Amino acid sequence: MTRYVGAIDQGTTSTRFIVVDRQGEVVAMAQKEHRQIYPKPGWVEHDPAEIWRNTREVVAEAMSRKGLEPKNLAAVGVTNQRETTVLWDRRTGAPLHNALVWQDTRVDQLVAAFARDGGQDRFRAATGLPLASYFSGLKLVWLLDNVPDARAKAEAGDALFGNIDTFLLWHLTGGPDGGLHVTDVTNASRTQLMNLATLDWDATLLDTFGIPRSVLPAIRSSSEVYGEVRDGPIAGVPIAGILGDQQAALVGQTCFRPGEAKNTYGTGCFLLMNTGPKIVPSTCGLVTTVAYRLGDQPACYALEGSIAITGALVQWLRDNLGLIRSSGDIEALAASVPDNGDVYIVPAFSGLYAPHWKESARGVVAGLTRFANRAHFARAALEATAYQTREVVEAMEKDSSIRLEELRVDGGMVANELLMQFQADILDVPVVRPRMTETTALGAAYAAGLATDYWQGTDDLVANWGVDKRWTPAMPAERRAKLYAAWGKAVTRAFDWVD
Ligand code: G3P
Repeated sequence: MTRYVGAIDQGTTSTRFIVVDRQGEVVAMAQKEHRQIYPKPGWVEHDPAEIWRNTREVVAEAMSRKGLEPKNLAAVGVTNQRETTVLWDRRTGAPLHNALVWQDTRVDQLVAAFARDGGQDRFRAATGLPLASYFSGLKLVWLLDNVPDARAKAEAGDALFGNIDTFLLWHLTGGPDGGLHVTDVTNASRTQLMNLATLDWDATLLDTFGIPRSVLPAIRSSSEVYGEVRDGPIAGVPIAGILGDQQAALVGQTCFRPGEAKNTYGTGCFLLMNTGPKIVPSTCGLVTTVAYRLGDQPACYALEGSIAITGALVQWLRDNLGLIRSSGDIEALAASVPDNGDVYIVPAFSGLYAPHWKESARGVVAGLTRFANRAHFARAALEATAYQTREVVEAMEKDSSIRLEELRVDGGMVANELLMQFQADILDVPVVRPRMTETTALGAAYAAGLATDYWQGTDDLVANWGVDKRWTPAMPAERRAKLYAAWGKAVTRAFDWVD
C-alpha cells in the first residue's frame, strides 16, 4: 500500500488540502475560497465556522478524487494564516465573534495607548515584535473588551482563544468532546504574548494586556504527534505538524541553514531568513520570530520582513476597480506598456508593516498625469511588490550582516514572469523559483512526516528541492536607482494619513 502525507493549508483567502508523496510531489489537492468580510474601513473578518466547514470539504474532496483512505496517510500537518484571532465557546464550539484577520487595523488606538508608555518597541526584547495592529495579542484584548460576556467566559475557563491552527486542531480532534487546545511555537511567536527565549507565555505580558492564562492554548513543538483526527475521511490519522504558513514555506523551501531565506508572494509578502538557534534582534524594522522547532531539538529562529499587501493589491484592482477580470490578466496588461508611466501605488491598506511599522499610513497613488492609463496601474501594482521586497531585503542585510546571494521565491505571484524579472532587476540579486511552489502546504507535510518517520531527517527534504527557473538581474544600475528613489518618495506620501 502506498502511503502519503496530507497537509491542511488554511490561508487568508482560501483553504486547501494537499497530499504529497515521499518526493514532495503533489498527489491530490482541493481548494476552496472563503468570504472576506469588511464591516468598516480597515476592518477585516472571517467566519470561523465557514473556515471549519471548508476545511472538511477540501479534505473530503481531495481524498475522494484519488480514492484515498485514512490508511493511505502516514500523518497530516496543519499550516495557517498567522495572527488571525478566534475566540470560541468551549462547550459548543461556536465562535463568540468573527475572526479578526491579521490585516485588521481596529486595534490601532490600543497600539497607540500602549506605545505611549515605553514606545513602539517596548515588547521587542521579550517577543521580537514591535507594537502593531498585526499581531494577535491586542486583537484578543479587543474581543475580550468588546464582545458581550467574553471576558467573564474567558475568566471562567469557558472561552478558548486560538489562531486558526488552534481552532482547526481543536475541531479536528473532537471539538467540545475532548478537542485538544494546542498551538505550536511559530504561531505562538506571532501573538506578542510568548517569550521568545523561554517559548512559554510571558506572565508579565499577560498581566500588562489583561489576558487570563486560562484562555490560551498549550505551546508545543512544530513537529510531534499531537493527537488523531476524530472522524470523517481522515479519521484516525495522526496530526503531527503545525507551522504558521510563512514558517511552513521556509521549511518547504528547505531553508534549514542559517542565512538561507525565502520570500512568499501571496496576499502579502513574507521574507524569512533562518538565523539558526540564535535570536537575532532587529534594529532595522524586521521582526524576530520562531522559524520552527522539530520535536525535542532546540528551536530555530528567523528574521522576518512582513509586507501586508502585495497580491491583495492585484485582487483589489480586480474586485474593487474592475481593472482586470482575473488576477492572471495583470501580467499581460502590465506588459502592454514599457514602463510604469511614472505611476507608483503604495498599498498601505492596513498601514505599513516592515520596515516602517506605521499604523496611520494609508494607500496612495502617486505620480499621476493624464498620460497614465490602466496598464500603468497594472504595472505599478506589480512593481509595488518588488519595491516593498527590496525594502525588507535591505533591512535583512543590515540586521543579519549577511549579503543575500539569491532569493528563493514561492507563492501564487511567482507564476508572473514579468514580476519575477522586475524583482531580480530591482534587487540586483538573482531570483530562484523551485519546481514545487506549493511550499507552504509542503512545509506542513514535512513537519508531520518528520514526526512520524515518513522522512528520516531534513536531508531527505533537501534532496527533494530543485530549481525550476532562475531570473538574473538585467537592469542598468542608474535606472534601478531612479525607480527605487521615486518609490521611496511615494512611500513617505502614505505616512500619517489617519490621526
Ligand atoms: O502573517 C500573515 C500570513 O501568515 C498570511 O499569509 O499566505 O495566508 O496570506 P497568507
